[in-house]
Amino acid sequence: MLFFYHFILDYKYLVCYSNFGDFMSIYIHIPFCTSICSYCDFCKIIYNEKYISNYLEMLEKEIKERYRGEKVKTIFIGGGTPTSLSYDELKRLFDIINIFDIEEKVEFTIESNIESIDEDKLKLMNIYGVNRISIGVESFDDNTLKLLGRRHNKEDILNKIELVKKYFDNINIDLIYAAYNDINILKNDIDNFLKLDIPHISTYSLIIEDNTILKINGMNNIDEDLDYDMYKYIEKTLENNNYIHYEISNYAKKGYKSKHNLVYWDNDDYYGFGLSSTSYIDNIRRVNTKNLSKYLRGEFISNEELEGTSIRMENEVMLGLRKIEGIDINKFKDRYGKDIEDVFNIDDFIRDNYLVKDNNYLRINKEYMYISNEIISRLFN
Ligand SMILES: C[S@@+](CC[C@H](N)C(=O)[O-])C[C@H]1O[C@@H](n2cnc3c(N)ncnc32)[C@H](O)[C@@H]1O
Ligand code: SF4
Repeated sequence: MLFFYHFILDYKYLVCYSNFGDFMSIYIHIPFCTSICSYCDFCKIIYNEKYISNYLEMLEKEIKERYRGEKVKTIFIGGGTPTSLSYDELKRLFDIINIFDIEEKVEFTIESNIESIDEDKLKLMNIYGVNRISIGVESFDDNTLKLLGRRHNKEDILNKIELVKKYFDNINIDLIYAAYNDINILKNDIDNFLKLDIPHISTYSLIIEDNTILKINGMNNIDEDLDYDMYKYIEKTLENNNYIHYEISNYAKKGYKSKHNLVYWDNDDYYGFGLSSTSYIDNIRRVNTKNLSKYLRGEFISNEELEGTSIRMENEVMLGLRKIEGIDINKFKDRYGKDIEDVFNIDDFIRDNYLVKDNNYLRINKEYMYISNEIISRLFN
């Protein structure tokens, strides 16, 4: 393979990103997890009852200080594992979220993992209007799950998904592949996923992050050509089963694309509340502290910066090209007053077939989506 680029799980840098029409989007970070997975470098802390009420109190304070009363189109509670909170703690969190002026047709997502889901919590989510659930399944292969430090097994997944389906139709599962040099594990995982008939899946090639158990244990990435084969296998199989590949790592049945995540990829405005979250409003990018003690003292911000036009245009391209449909060229002109080709030297990329321009969209040729990060970084040089 000419150039290999292991997909960066940009998700976690974005996780915490809306002028969605005239509406806003909200990200809320709940950093607690009941156990820590061997690959994870998200902003997370082992669940400890003693911190939760303080955390929720400060979260409420932050929201009341900053929220300007906009109508809210999407809400995403991520983590960490929000559903690691107890029933009463979750109820308190949802009561705080009621501060927002929420659109009737809101997309309201909560992240969860298999072991923290129970029927009472699912009922509570329904009562408070949560209408989308994203579950960290990661694999159906018990050895892979052990390697990843996950506490569930295949049987738990099947039981919990059956339960979740009683309360939710809009379900996403996260899948991690490329933990082993064995494509059969992936094939089996995709088979199991298809049998569950779930409308959305996010698939991530395992990244061995610094300061994780996997890294400390000296784990290496799998063979790059095999990683590419896995990526193409996922794409082909899911597309053959009527899933729309709409972003590098994301597939959805018709009508089930994640509206919230599209806000990030469209470079629209959004609020982020909670530890480590990012907000992007009126060209100001604000990043909250990752330090729990500081957050609990009310020292929320770690950095705030007004972004200049060039960085905004670069972000627009970097994020927009993650989508399979690409960047809306007219929207780019409306936002920045310039044609995209006058800002970035795209002609060579179009000539070499890496980029395609049609129907007012500029996109990465699907054949080269796997090396999108490489293409984007060359575009900026
Ligand atoms: C915040 S977690 C999801 C919710 C919940 N905490 C859980 O893990 O079940 C977000 C997702 O990012 C993915 N992820 C995290 N770290 C990763 C890594 N190092 N490599 C690949 N995927 C990763 C996993 O699929 C994980 O489910
Ligand atoms: S992957 Fe999810 S459950 Fe595991 S440590 Fe990270 S945030 Fe927590």
